Amino acid sequence: MSTAADPLVGAPPVADVMRPEPYRIERVKGETHDTFTVELRPEGGGACRPWLPGQFNMLYVFGVGEIPISISGDPASPVLVHTTRSVGRVTKAMARLKAGDVIGVRGPYGVPWPLEAARGRDVVVVAGGIGLAPLRGALYSLLAERDDYGNLVLLYGTRTPQDILYRHELERWRARFDVEIHVTVDRGSSAWHGNVGVVTTLIHKAPFTSRNAVAMICGPEVMIRFTAMELQRRGVPPPQIHVSMERNMKCGVGFCGHCQFGPHFVCRDGPVFPYDRIEELVNRWEV
Ligand SMILES: Cc1cc2nc3c(=O)[nH]c(=O)nc-3n(C[C@H](O)[C@H](O)[C@H](O)COP(=O)(O)OP(=O)(O)OC[C@H]3O[C@@H](n4cnc5c(N)ncnc54)[C@H](O)[C@@H]3O)c2cc1C
Ligand code: FES
Repeated sequence: MSTAADPLVGAPPVADVMRPEPYRIERVKGETHDTFTVELRPEGGGACRPWLPGQFNMLYVFGVGEIPISISGDPASPVLVHTTRSVGRVTKAMARLKAGDVIGVRGPYGVPWPLEAARGRDVVVVAGGIGLAPLRGALYSLLAERDDYGNLVLLYGTRTPQDILYRHELERWRARFDVEIHVTVDRGSSAWHGNVGVVTTLIHKAPFTSRNAVAMICGPEVMIRFTAMELQRRGVPPPQIHVSMERNMKCGVGFCGHCQFGPHFVCRDGPVFPYDRIEELVNRWEV
């Protein structure tokens, strides 16, 4: 029997929480050789559910499976946007979908980026590879309310120049002159005249006041670990460093335990965590 302290009292029945809503694909845009963006609207009209940058949806490719994908669009836009890298069974099936096809959507879920806590401070956004997608919504919000923040820096690393996401948008943002953007690649080419090296090598170039800065990091786990170490070395306190973690998920809402990360469920307690809450776990996992 439920008691007054039971967190499930008043919660919708499990079946409702787990039921995907049909969304129609309005547009598919190829971003790189293995990454694409879909724009979705609820099938049969109506508005998309409100969401905050850093949150994710469970996307269901009917007959194939359901996966967590961050919302990567502009919070001010009426369409729901997801950018996905094709790596396995579900993402490859999703890559074959076309405008007009329907997928299932559950969400939004999870803890967003700390945009409110960052007001009045310098903001350092560090992305690796597809990790720029979960951060793009935060960048739209920061740029929309630019006067509310101090220095704004984006440091972005990819494997090759061909893997750079949202290239035109990065160029547009650079032309604003109120956000400093540095991009680096692991392997350059004869046509690449930019930085070569891991994204942590960009941190010393970034103009921010360490004790006043809020950092937001998303990328492969090893990149998160070294970026957080480098930011701490520069003086950014660990509670001001926020990272987005990935774990395999099934329910997305804290029922199944699939995404357990130490004492945390990434779907419910994250995916965005202050680094001091998970630093020990990240270091232990990497050993
Ligand atoms: C909160 C959250 C947000 C996410 N946001 C995004 C997002 O915005 N965009 C996005 O593209 N992905 C995102 N992911 C990752 C995405 O959920 C996985 O890539 C997806 O579940 C893989 O499913 P699949 O069936 O295609 O691959 P599977 O068939 O499950 O895996 C196939 C192979 O690919 C490997 N693999 C699985 N995931 C990855 C990965 N991420 N990178 C490299 N290799 C992998 C597996 O180890 C396996 O060997 C997010 C994950 C979480 C937890
Ligand atoms: S995915 Fe089920 S508890 Fe997180």
